[in-house]
Amino acid sequence: MEKLLEMKEICKSFGTNNVLKNVQFDLFAGEVHALIGENGAGKSTLMKILMGMYKKDSGSLSVLGSDEAYTNPDQALKAGVAMIHQELNPIPDMSVAENIFLGKEKRKWIFTSKKEQEKESKRYLDMLGIDLEPSVLMRELSVSEMQMVEIAKALSYGARIIIMDEPTSAITEAEVEKLFQNIKMLKEQGTGIIYISHKMDELFEISDRITVLRDGQYVFSKKTKDLCPNDLIKAMVGREITEIYPESKSKIGEVILKVKHASRKGEFKKIDFELRKGEKLGIAGLMGAGRTELMMAVFGAAKLEEGEIEIGGVPVRIQSPKDAIRQKIALVTEDRKRYGLNLTASVEDNAVSVIESSLSKFGFYRRKLGRKAAEEMISRMNTKVTGMDQIVGSLSGGNMQKVVLSKWLLNDPDIIIFDEPTRGIDVGAKAEIYKIIEELACKGKGIIIISSEMPELIGLSQRIIVLHEGEQTGELRGKEMTQENIMTLASGYRKEEKE
Ligand SMILES: Nc1ncnc2c1ncn2[C@@H]1O[C@H](COP(=O)(O)OP(=O)(O)OP(=O)(O)O)[C@@H](O)[C@H]1O
Ligand SMILES: [Mg+2]
Repeated sequence: MEKLLEMKEICKSFGTNNVLKNVQFDLFAGEVHALIGENGAGKSTLMKILMGMYKKDSGSLSVLGSDEAYTNPDQALKAGVAMIHQELNPIPDMSVAENIFLGKEKRKWIFTSKKEQEKESKRYLDMLGIDLEPSVLMRELSVSEMQMVEIAKALSYGARIIIMDEPTSAITEAEVEKLFQNIKMLKEQGTGIIYISHKMDELFEISDRITVLRDGQYVFSKKTKDLCPNDLIKAMVGREITEIYPESKSKIGEVILKVKHASRKGEFKKIDFELRKGEKLGIAGLMGAGRTELMMAVFGAAKLEEGEIEIGGVPVRIQSPKDAIRQKIALVTEDRKRYGLNLTASVEDNAVSVIESSLSKFGFYRRKLGRKAAEEMISRMNTKVTGMDQIVGSLSGGNMQKVVLSKWLLNDPDIIIFDEPTRGIDVGAKAEIYKIIEELACKGKGIIIISSEMPELIGLSQRIIVLHEGEQTGELRGKEMTQENIMTLASGYRKEEKE
C-alpha cells in the first residue's frame, strides 16, 4: 500500500510548554488512522504542523512524496492535504459556496462566477446528503452545518489526505451516519483519513488503525481490530476508569423552574415543563428540533414570544442573559466560540467574567479574590493550562470547554442548563464532569441537559422530554428512557399514536 505520510521524532514547544516529544505518525492510502489522547495531549498541534500552521522544532516529515514541510495551510491544501478544524472560524458574511471555493474562486474573465460556484457547491453538498442552499450566509448556519460545509470543501479540493479533527463533535447521529458513508467512499478512492475523536464507539466503527498520544508522547499504533475500549482508555489516561456515570443520589425537591406555553415562531411551540431542585432533566431531539433555541429563550439570549417562566413559583421576565444571571440561571453553551469565551483574554479573565460584578466593592474589582476562586475551579476541573494568564485561544479544545464550565459554576447558579456539555472532552474529563453534575444536583441545583449523545443523555437524566420540530412529542422516565424510545419520539411519533 502506498504511504502518504510519515512523521518521525516530531518535537514542538510553545515557550516552556513541551507539547510534542518525539512523536511519530504515518498514514497509508485508503486508510482511516485515528489519532487519540486526552485533552491537551497534542493531537491538533501535530496536525497543524502537518498543515504548515505551526513549524516543528525538530523531527522529520515526508508527505505525498515530498520531504519539505508546508509553510502554510493554503500550500497544504493545494498539495492535497485538507484539514477540518475542531474550532471552526468561518467568515460570517460569506456564502456557503464562497466558503467552499475560498482560494480557488471560479472566474469568468476577472469576475468570480457566482452561479457556477453555487452549482458545483450544490453538487458536493448533495454528495454528502446535506440539504443546504449554497447561497446561504455562513453566519446563518449551526455548528453542525458549518462542519458539513467544511467537509464539502475538503471534497472539492480532491484532497489525498483529509484530517478530521473531531468532525462529529457537533453533528447528530443521522449526520454521523452520512459522514461515515462518505469516509468509506473516500477510502475506496484511496484517500487517507486522519481521524481525531473522543468518541470510543466511532473509533471502533470507522478506523483501521489507532495511534495514542499521552502528554505529548507517542504511546502506540495498533490495528483497531486488535484493541478494545479499555486498552485505549488505559493508554490515554494511564489508569482504568470503571464508573463513567455516577449513581444518582440527589434528592428531588420543590419546583424551581416552570416553563409554560413557551413559543417562538419557527423554533418551538407551546412547550411546557417543570424542573425541580436536585433534578436532572434531559432534553432530546434531532438537530433543528429546537432544543438549543428553547434554552436560549429561557436564558434570555433570544426573545420568548409567547409563554411564561416561573422561578421558585414566581413569574419572572427574563429579557437578557443579564436577567438570567441575576435569577441564578447558567447556560453552559454548545457553541463556546460564539457565546462562551473571549478567546483573546486570559483563562482568569474568562473564568471570572460572570462573577466580576459580584466581586466588586465600591466599584473596585477585588482581583485577588477572583484569582483565588478561578484558580480553585480551574484546578478542580483538571484543566490543562500553563497558568491563569494563558490566553484561552491557545488552549486545546477540550480545555476551553472546561473554562466555560468554570466560568458558570463560579457564579453558584441554582439552575444550570448544559448544552452539549462534553463536546470534545476526553473520557477521563467526561467522567469528571458527570461527577460534577451529580454533585451539583446533590446540592439541590436544578439541572437541564441537552445532549446528542444518547448514552450520555440516558446516563445522566432522571427524566427526558423529547422535541420534534419545535414540538414536545413526549416525556420518558426511568426504564422508558431507551435509545429506541427517544428516537421514536424524536422523529415525530407521539406516545399516543404509538399505542
Ligand atoms: N498556539 C499555541 N500557543 C501556546 N500553546 C498552545 C498553542 N496551541 C496549543 N498549545 C498547547 O499545546 C497543548 C496541546 O494542545 P492541542 O490543541 O494539540 O491538544 P489536543 O490533543 O488537540 O486536545 P483536545 O482533545 O482538547 O483538542 C496544550 O497544552 C495547549 O495549551
Ligand atoms: Mg484538539
